Amino acid sequence: MNWNELIAELAHVGAGGRAEGAITGVEYDSRKVRQGAVFVAMKGAQTDGNRYVSKALAAGALGIITDSAETFDHLLVYSPDVGVLEVEHGRRALGEASAAFFSHPERKLAATGITGTNGKTTTAFLTEALLNAAGGTSVLVGTIEYHVAGEVRPSIHTTPESRDLFELMAEGAEHGATELVTEVSSHALDQGRAAGIAFDVAVFTNFTRDHLDYHGTMDKYFAAKRLLFDGLVYPAPRVAVINAQDERGKQLAAAARRAGAEVRLFGIGAGEWRAAKYKLTPGGAVIELETPAGSAEVVSRLAGEVNVLNLLAAFTAAHARGVAFDDLVGFVAELRPVPGRFQPVDAGQPFTVIVDYAHTDDALRNLTMLARQMAAKTEGRVVTVFGCGGDRDRTKRPKMGLAAGEGSDLVIATSDNPRSEDPQMILAEIEPGLKASGVKYTMEPDRATAIRAALGGAARGDVVLIAGKGHEREQILATGTVPFDDAQIALGILGELGYGEGQ
Ligand SMILES: Nc1ncnc2c1ncn2[C@@H]1O[C@H](COP(=O)(O)OP(=O)(O)O)[C@@H](O)[C@H]1O
Ligand SMILES: [Mg+2]
Repeated sequence: MNWNELIAELAHVGAGGRAEGAITGVEYDSRKVRQGAVFVAMKGAQTDGNRYVSKALAAGALGIITDSAETFDHLLVYSPDVGVLEVEHGRRALGEASAAFFSHPERKLAATGITGTNGKTTTAFLTEALLNAAGGTSVLVGTIEYHVAGEVRPSIHTTPESRDLFELMAEGAEHGATELVTEVSSHALDQGRAAGIAFDVAVFTNFTRDHLDYHGTMDKYFAAKRLLFDGLVYPAPRVAVINAQDERGKQLAAAARRAGAEVRLFGIGAGEWRAAKYKLTPGGAVIELETPAGSAEVVSRLAGEVNVLNLLAAFTAAHARGVAFDDLVGFVAELRPVPGRFQPVDAGQPFTVIVDYAHTDDALRNLTMLARQMAAKTEGRVVTVFGCGGDRDRTKRPKMGLAAGEGSDLVIATSDNPRSEDPQMILAEIEPGLKASGVKYTMEPDRATAIRAALGGAARGDVVLIAGKGHEREQILATGTVPFDDAQIALGILGELGYGEGQ
């Protein structure tokens, strides 16, 4: 593809200069520019890519796409030997240029996008697993990892820049993928990182207070999520899968309907894609599904009520993507818990152990509330192990202490990636929150020792939460990074305590 072919696909306000030869790449980071690449200079939240145009030129860029009239005028005069394009929206142009450069993978993959405050990662994993069980090949993009036609890669961003998303899609398409399942964070929507992808199915899990530091107000935050459904900036989805129990869900449903989408509401005892009843069991849940496509009792290995909702969302989305109801009912029984997302650790002990990624005060409130519901049924206590990251927002620490304390009967505060900081100092900043909550607590900087104390002291019916690290496999200390996997450590300790196979 050459410059003229590329710009023919882009909405622009001005074009000039000249560029010869084949385009070797499309980049938004000047450090990645190689000979023959096109550099998209766009104004961002943190920096302005227009400041790096000279770097991109020095690295061999053959064309510059800019959202700055000033950059455009300057290049026309001083760099007549490069192609220059002025666009209104830098990020949208990045999407369009990437789609063109990567040969339009968005036309080969049907996209399912998942947004909401909580449950995106879980719902994305479950949806992908259901599509794969039905024989599909997919690209998954989200917080924990990326999947590219069966290959697992580390995740860099929950929702990457459009360029990187298109590259993943193109690689997937090359290996036969026909489905994209992606988490779409509100930041990503706000910044237009999914620009250029017309979602076939859009899923809304729920909406609660979160990320206010970025979006400022709840309304702005919600407005960002709405973009996936309302058809105003991006094409409306063909099918909108929306939580019927969520107040904002109703607003979204109305907006999606106005935009021409088929709306499918899901919920527990609510919506037409519903769990009429469910029962949490030691192994997961038994759910009575009632949907317009059929009714059935399904057995799930996922713990907790929120996972009943996530499962309904995934089931409804996968059905919208063409998987038959009866097939889905069979596939649900095979679904495995998502790593670090309300993940049970089970060695046959008479109490519940859950590893979860919750690492904010909101998430801890949410998590302990879920645990409280479970513990109420087994007449046990909620015991929470958690810590706060080092070299990060210190104001979170007492708030997390308070949240964990208010939701638990016993808290063991410990370390969670202290980084360059002294773990004892971090604990000292958590303690005022714990004190204020009135909870019984201890503090133990060594995370494995803290987990051992929690598990060793647990009684029948208790729910032990090991919060903060979730799927992470490492602990980052001042002395270096060491392997640390909460689920593995917990399983090992349960073994020492005499539970598990062969005991
Ligand atoms: N549907 C849900 N509603 C409320 N909380 C949830 C839901 N699903 C998961 N959670 C909680 O939120 C945490 C984050 O879940 P995750 O699937 O990673 O969501 P996200 O990708 O939106 O952050 C989970 O570990 C669990 O404690
Ligand atoms: Mg996520």
